[in-house]
This record gives sequence, structure tokens and C-alpha cells, in this order.
Amino acid sequence: MATVLYLQASPRKPQESYSSRAAAAFIEAYRKLHPDDQVMTRNVFDSTLPEFNQAAADGKYAIMHGKPHTPEQAAAWRGVEHEAAIFKAVDKVVLSAPMWNFGIPYRLKQYLDVMVQPTLTFSFDPVKGYEGLVKGKPVLLVLARGGEYPTGSPVDFQLPYLKFIFQFIGFTDIRTLLVEPALASGPDVAAAKLAAAIQQAPTLAATF
Ligand SMILES: Cc1cc2nc3c(=O)[nH]c(=O)nc-3n(C[C@H](O)[C@H](O)[C@H](O)COP(=O)(O)O)c2cc1C
Repeated sequence: MATVLYLQASPRKPQESYSSRAAAAFIEAYRKLHPDDQVMTRNVFDSTLPEFNQAAADGKYAIMHGKPHTPEQAAAWRGVEHEAAIFKAVDKVVLSAPMWNFGIPYRLKQYLDVMVQPTLTFSFDPVKGYEGLVKGKPVLLVLARGGEYPTGSPVDFQLPYLKFIFQFIGFTDIRTLLVEPALASGPDVAAAKLAAAIQQAPTLAATF
């Protein structure tokens, strides 16, 4: 039995969000194929996330400089460790997210800023450099964008960023399902693009 972490990063209602609807089709197809697997769904807008405040930032620098945590840093770090532990314990990750201002929504950025940490999800060595510590899991990125962004677009800071940050923490199996344009060409085009993404879901689920 595998465990799947399904992270949603749109604050819209699930029946209105393009990224959530495409991901829901994938999850439904996946559940049919793997009825015994456990899917944990979490919307980063609905859940409490640790603040990455001064104590947490100082805690990070303490680790990078090989120093022990102060009690205040250790307290802040417990929330960080908790998030990283949940993330590392699952076998597979599905992330659905909208494009916001050419990048990702701030709550998803907060989640990543909490979770992407030295000794937990990556290691740093002055000689060897950085190494991702989250290995052997696939991730599916289900992304909605109001406009259309061809591969290599200089203003797409959503897909390239997410691909990079997942690679940075150790992922090598990164899959994508895009819904675009979900706004700029009107509701009929958006509906057709969503339908096309939903149609791909069973094929994607079959190998996930
Ligand atoms: C705050 C905000 C910022 C947005 N910024 C962009 C943007 O920079 N580029 C774009 O193509 N679409 C942008 N959009 C449109 C969304 O990407 C689009 O509506 C998408 O369907 C949202 O995904 P969702 O339906 O899953 O929430 C933005 C929407 C919002 C609410």
C-alpha cells in the first residue's frame, strides 16, 4: 500500500478551480487503479503552516554554520521538522497549483519555504555542494494558467520554478499536467482545455 500526498494550492472552490478539477480527475483515476493506497489531501490555504520568522531563519543559518539551535530556534524548528517529516514519509506527491503573477501562490511558497531545509530535504557541504534528500518519489504537477506559456517562456516562473525546487530536494521523476489558457481565451476554450487534461488523467495515473 502506497501513500500519496495531494497538495492543493488554489483557494478557489474545488468545483471552480481548474487545477483542482484536473487533479481531482487524476486522483479519481489513481484511486480506481490503487484502491488500497491512502491519499492524504491538504489545501495549503486551509491548513495552518508554520511561520518562517526570525527564529526559523536564524535556526536555518545555525544549521548551515554547524551551530546548535537556541531554545527559541529549536521551538521554531519543530514546526519545520514536522512538515518535512510528513512530506518525506509519503511515497508519491501530487501538487495542483494556479499561476499567480507568473509564479506560484504565496501560501504554496510559504509551504516550500518551510519544507525546503538543510539536513531535512537537502544537504549542503562546502566541498560537495547541495544534494537533495527526498529520493525515489514521483511528483505530478497539475498546473492551471490563465494565459498560455510555451516551453521556455521567459515569463513562466511557475512550472520552471516548481520543477527546479523539486529537483533541488532530490526528485528526478517530475511529471506535468497543464490546463492553459484557463482564462485569457474565454470560458469555452478553458472548458475544452480542462476536458483535455481530464482525458489524460487515466493514462497518467496508470504509470504513477
Ligand atoms: C491573484 C491571481 C493572479 C493571477 N496571475 C496570473 C498570471 O500571472 N498569469 C496568468 O496566466 N494567469 C494568472 N491568473 C489566472 C489564473 O492562473 C487562472 O485563472 C487559473 O485558472 C487559476 O487556477 P485555479 O482555477 O486552479 O485557481 C491569476 C489569477 C489570480 C487569482
